[in-house]
Amino acid sequence: MSIAPHGGVLVNRLVPQRDNQVLLERASGLKRLHLTPREASDLELISVGALSPLEGFMNGEDYRAVIEEMRLANGLPWSLPMTLSGTHEETASLRVGEEIALYNASNNLLGVLELEDKYSYNKEREAEQVYRTTDLAHPGVKSLYNQGDVLLGGRVTAAQRLNNSTLDRYSLEPAESRRVFQEKGWKTVVGFQTRNPVHRAHEYIQKTALEVVDGLFLHPLVGETKAGDIPAEVRMRCYQALIDGYYPKDRVILGIFPAAMRYAGPREAIFHALVRKNYGCTHFIVGRDHAGVGNYYGSYDAQHIFQEFTPQELGITPLFFENTFYCKRCGCMASSKTCPHDSSYHLVLSGTKVRAMLQAGEMLPAEFTRPEVAKILMEASKVNASPQ
Ligand code: ADX
Repeated sequence: MSIAPHGGVLVNRLVPQRDNQVLLERASGLKRLHLTPREASDLELISVGALSPLEGFMNGEDYRAVIEEMRLANGLPWSLPMTLSGTHEETASLRVGEEIALYNASNNLLGVLELEDKYSYNKEREAEQVYRTTDLAHPGVKSLYNQGDVLLGGRVTAAQRLNNSTLDRYSLEPAESRRVFQEKGWKTVVGFQTRNPVHRAHEYIQKTALEVVDGLFLHPLVGETKAGDIPAEVRMRCYQALIDGYYPKDRVILGIFPAAMRYAGPREAIFHALVRKNYGCTHFIVGRDHAGVGNYYGSYDAQHIFQEFTPQELGITPLFFENTFYCKRCGCMASSKTCPHDSSYHLVLSGTKVRAMLQAGEMLPAEFTRPEVAKILMEASKVNASPQ
């Protein structure tokens, strides 16, 4: 028996293959709305049940409950608004009760929305509550302020996706990951969220977690990230190299998480955990400054927020890790919890320093990143730096 999805039922809002053509024809007669990459990612997540129990974009009642209480209107924990926005001009003619065709920027049909609610909202309040700041330098706040002023709620039906990404071979929808875990006989599975290239601290906390559970689900986020973050395709190659060289294959599954990053720190940690429950994980890793950016959150705020819920209502067990590094004196990976030596013995490289080293063609130390991974990053940084 696998772990129950959030709210009890795994949602499926993807049109069956045999009905896809009918959906496309129906959509051609509907009013249109274009989605941002973040909204398109959310639609994909909803359609495969990753956001269960959500069947669509939030209506006003759920939206307000999430912003103010970190719960859906029915009381179930939920930490991030899942919204679809439009400008006044784009939405003026849209009527509650009608269906709207949803497109991406390349004019591909993504799905159809049954418009149930059309409402205004307070961006400043959302920023304060969700991001703990209204600073426009915060990438999540910036996206929020760039959104339209009207939100549209309602159930969605997603069209079949065109498979055109090199990452598709790592696609594992919640129903599939659940089946794989069951086939492997894993009773406990720890999920790992990441948006950065894998380094030894990641590997250390993943393997430490694996010591106490049956399986490890490596689940890199591959939706939209902020400028400067390493592309998903490069990060996936790093993971593949790491698995090939350093992981027990029968205990690790690598799959993509097609979500966009919001950089909402603590609230996003709760979201990341609940969603991994939908993928079938029983445990979830939360380390130092999870989903953070800049200095907006304290190093362990994303761990403290779990105290605001009971373990039963979350239904997935967080595994917390302190700041982890290589200690030259210990001669191994360690954390602020396990190492008695002062920071002069610790090998810590900032993201800026790592980027500078890669661009200068300098090899990263093996204590920081596995050489196979460093090589992939170095090659990718050369390609990015070369003139077009
Ligand atoms: S995140 O935005 O997806 O959280 P990242 O990919 O860097 O960023 O982190 C993935 C997970 O590893 C998060 O849970 C984060 O807290 C944890 N983590 C990253 N680096 C460290 C570290 N040096 N020590 C402890 N935990 C870490």
